[in-house]
Amino acid sequence: MTETKKSEWNSNITFVMAMIGSAVGLGNIWRFPNVLYSNGGGSFMIPYIISLFLLGISFVLVEYAVGFKFKKSLAQILYFIKEKLEPVAWFVLLIVFLITTYYVCVVGWDLIYVVLSLTKAWGSNPDVYFSSNVLQATDTIAGITTIVPTVLASIFVIWFLLWFILKRDLNEGIGNVSKILLPILCAIVVIIVAFSLTLPGASIGYTQIFTPDWSALTNLNVWLAAFGQIVFSLSLGMAIALTYASYLPSGSKLVDNAVVVAFSNSGFEIFNSIGIFSILGFMAMSTGIPFNKLVTEGTGLAFVVFPQVFNIMGPWASLIGPLFFLCILFAGLTSAMALLEGVCYSVSEKFLIERKKTATIVCIIGFLISTIFATGAGSLILGVFDAFLNNFALLFAILIECIIFGWIYKFDELIKTLNDNSRIKVGKTWKAVIKYILPICILGLWIQGVYSTITTADSSSLTIMAILSVILIVVPIVFAKLPARNKNFFNPEN
Ligand code: PFF
Repeated sequence: MTETKKSEWNSNITFVMAMIGSAVGLGNIWRFPNVLYSNGGGSFMIPYIISLFLLGISFVLVEYAVGFKFKKSLAQILYFIKEKLEPVAWFVLLIVFLITTYYVCVVGWDLIYVVLSLTKAWGSNPDVYFSSNVLQATDTIAGITTIVPTVLASIFVIWFLLWFILKRDLNEGIGNVSKILLPILCAIVVIIVAFSLTLPGASIGYTQIFTPDWSALTNLNVWLAAFGQIVFSLSLGMAIALTYASYLPSGSKLVDNAVVVAFSNSGFEIFNSIGIFSILGFMAMSTGIPFNKLVTEGTGLAFVVFPQVFNIMGPWASLIGPLFFLCILFAGLTSAMALLEGVCYSVSEKFLIERKKTATIVCIIGFLISTIFATGAGSLILGVFDAFLNNFALLFAILIECIIFGWIYKFDELIKTLNDNSRIKVGKTWKAVIKYILPICILGLWIQGVYSTITTADSSSLTIMAILSVILIVVPIVFAKLPARNKNFFNPEN
């Protein structure tokens, strides 16, 4: 068996585009506006920007430094740091993989809406249409036995596209797709925002973002929300930045790149929310529904409120509607491929399976798991997966990563790697952030997440969470125990 060839980005621009593509996702488009609105509007920018610099960029830098220094997959890096840590890598990767299985499903719903928006096929009741016609959702878990063919087909299409991108060489696949989709995505957002500002009532919406509620700043939950948004939006701890940085050629500028990526991601979500709020302002004025009833998170905003807006927008809706859903589709695709790349890389490196074959195996298994979400109980189970994996498992994984890189590994080596490869230098402050401040903030977020997840869960949700917990313990241990086919796996110096 021969060594799998180590991939490398063909230019810094490709890397930066792929990194921005990985960060800009569904979270930027539908999560951010709600978080911003519910946490004090304009004043939220203060905790948000502080979280971005202090915690977000700081942790991205850890991932860059580790990936760039070792130029290996997460599984092999953790094995090298301490043999016993290998299961932690598979734990992180399994969480990321499971998140992708439902993330793909939401991108699949969006694909359906790209088509529906051409004729506004959702009719005069988009909320009923979404749950009854598109999802064919049942109230109980019993719906798991009925497959919803359209959702299944769209999930299949998304997995197929991901497979088609991932099986290719790094630059040809992820690189080119990011370089094509990202500019289109930005152009679409510019069109939507420019158009939305011309709508009557737009100012009712966007002034909400810029009207600060200073009292929110004394609320700890607002700070946790800001930090939570940064974690989600920058896809922290999901081994994406680490994997992408491991493909960087020597001589790359690490800190400089991290700053560009983080600023672009936040710039995108702030700019985009101006458009979303303006459109909601128009809706509030046209229908008399109070503004605060319109701002909802996730599926509610994208697949219910927006179709309602397009219904009253007139002829422009035939252009803005499909563009809006295409924007979500492109953002979702570039994020989903990034989520999978780290998983594929570790599998391919340990078991010495070539890129194409790894992508095929991972995408088939992913698709099979995603079929759960294409059932009548799909959206119900999806909600449980999302709450459990994001609020509970992922935050726990990031906490362990902080401890491993901040405390177990020689942290000064990471400082050296960054300073040797950047114009902007880092030092003691960064070290203190990673060792003390970041773990404390993550712990706060984690306790809040666990509390809200457990107190709101019913018995079937708790059962699903219990099953997920067992899977998250057993599978990583099995993967770490499986013998590596790559003889260099146990010797990362090579
Ligand atoms: N950062 C991306 C987004 O905002 O959608 C990707 C992502 C983050 C996907 C977190 C999934 C997730 F749980």
